[in-house]
Amino acid sequence: MRRLLACTLALATLAPFAAAQKSNGLALTPPMGWNSWNWFAGKVTQDDVKKAADLIVSSGMRDAGYVYVNIDDTWEGKRDASGVLQTNEKFPDMKGLADYVHSKGLKLGIYSSPGDQTCARFEGSLHHEQQDADLYAKWGIDYLKYDLCGFRKDMQTAAPGDDAAAKTVQDKMMRNAYETMHQALLKTGRPIVYSLCQYGFDSVWQWGPEVGANLWRTTGDVSANFPSIALIAETQVGLAKYAAPGHWNDPDMLEVGNGKLTLDENRTHMGMWAMLAAPLLAGNNLTQLTPEITAVLLNKEVIAIDQDALGKQADRVYKEGPVEIWSRPLADGGHALAVINFGEDFTFLRGIDLHLKEAGIRGNAPAHDIWSAKDLGSLQTGYKGGLKRHEMLLLRFGK
Ligand code: GLA
Repeated sequence: MRRLLACTLALATLAPFAAAQKSNGLALTPPMGWNSWNWFAGKVTQDDVKKAADLIVSSGMRDAGYVYVNIDDTWEGKRDASGVLQTNEKFPDMKGLADYVHSKGLKLGIYSSPGDQTCARFEGSLHHEQQDADLYAKWGIDYLKYDLCGFRKDMQTAAPGDDAAAKTVQDKMMRNAYETMHQALLKTGRPIVYSLCQYGFDSVWQWGPEVGANLWRTTGDVSANFPSIALIAETQVGLAKYAAPGHWNDPDMLEVGNGKLTLDENRTHMGMWAMLAAPLLAGNNLTQLTPEITAVLLNKEVIAIDQDALGKQADRVYKEGPVEIWSRPLADGGHALAVINFGEDFTFLRGIDLHLKEAGIRGNAPAHDIWSAKDLGSLQTGYKGGLKRHEMLLLRFGK
C-alpha cells in the first residue's frame, strides 16, 4: 500500500513536468503577422509574398509586432522519387524566400494538411510528416498551419457515419494526426509555431495544448463581411478559459481592409479580435493599404490589449438585443472593456450600465476611449453617448 502511494505521488509530481514538455515555449502572446489566403487565395506567388514582406516593414507593421509572413495553401508541388515534396512553379525558391523574409527581421510561415491533399487539393503531408517537417526546418520555416481538410475522408473511411461510436474513432484519429506532426516538428529541433486548423471540431480548445498546439481555429472560415465577423464573435462565448500564454483560441485571420467593410466594421473586427487575445494575422492586400486601414491595424493601444502579457481572453459580461459588453483583465491590474452594437440601428447607450462590477472593474477607475484617443475619467454614473450600427466603444480602465 505504502509503495503504491509512493508511486502515485511520484507520478503526480511528474505530471506537471510531462505537461510542460508539450509546450515549445513559443507564442507567449498571440502570433501577429500576415497570411496570404484572405486576399490572394490560390493565386499567391513568391513575388507577392516578397512584396508583402517589404510592405510589412515599410508600413510600420513589423515594428508594431506583425512579424510572421505566412504562405497559405497552393505553394505545394509534387513529391520526387524519394518522397521529398517540391514547391510548384509559383514558388521557385522557398529557401531563398525564407532567407529574404528573415533578412527583413521577419519570420516565414507555411501551410499543410494531415491528409494526402490540402483543402485546395494540393499535396498534403500524410505518411510524409517527418520528411515535410525536416524540409520546413531546412528551408527555415518558423510557423506551420496544419489544416485537417484531406484527412476528413480518411476519418470517414476508417469509421463511416456520424454516430457516437464512429465519432470516437474519428476524433482519436484526428488527435493522433495532429500529435504526429507535433512530434515531427519537435524532432527537427527548430522552433516552429504550431497552428491547428480543424474549425473547432471535437472542442479542440480542450485538447489542443496536449498535441502541442500554440493556437487552434475555433470556427469555420471568416469572410470579409460583418455578419461573418459577428457570427464568429458570438461563437467565442465561453472559450476564454482555454486561452493562455503559448496556447490561443484562433477565431481565424483578419479581414481588416478586405471586402466592403466600413471603418466602424474594421475597427470592431480588430478590436474584437484584440479582446479575444486572437492571433492578429492581417489578410489584406498590402499594396493597397490606405491611411484609414493602416491606422486600424497599427493602433498601438488595441495591439497592446491583444498582446497583454497576462494572456486572459475576454468574456462576455452583458448582452441585450444587439448590444454586448465584453471584458478582459490586463497585466497592469486594469481592464479592457468593449461595448459593441452588432445591430443595424444607432443605439443610445445613455441608459446602459457598463456592468463594471461584473467586469471586475472598480467603479471610479479612470477610463480611456481607445478609438477616439480620449481620457474619459470615471464612468461610475454610466456612459453618455451612442453607437452607430456595427460600432465598438473600446475602453481601457486603469486599476
Ligand atoms: C481552409 C482553411 C482556410 C485556408 C484554406 C486553404 O478553408 O480554413 O483558412 O487555409 O483552407 O485551402
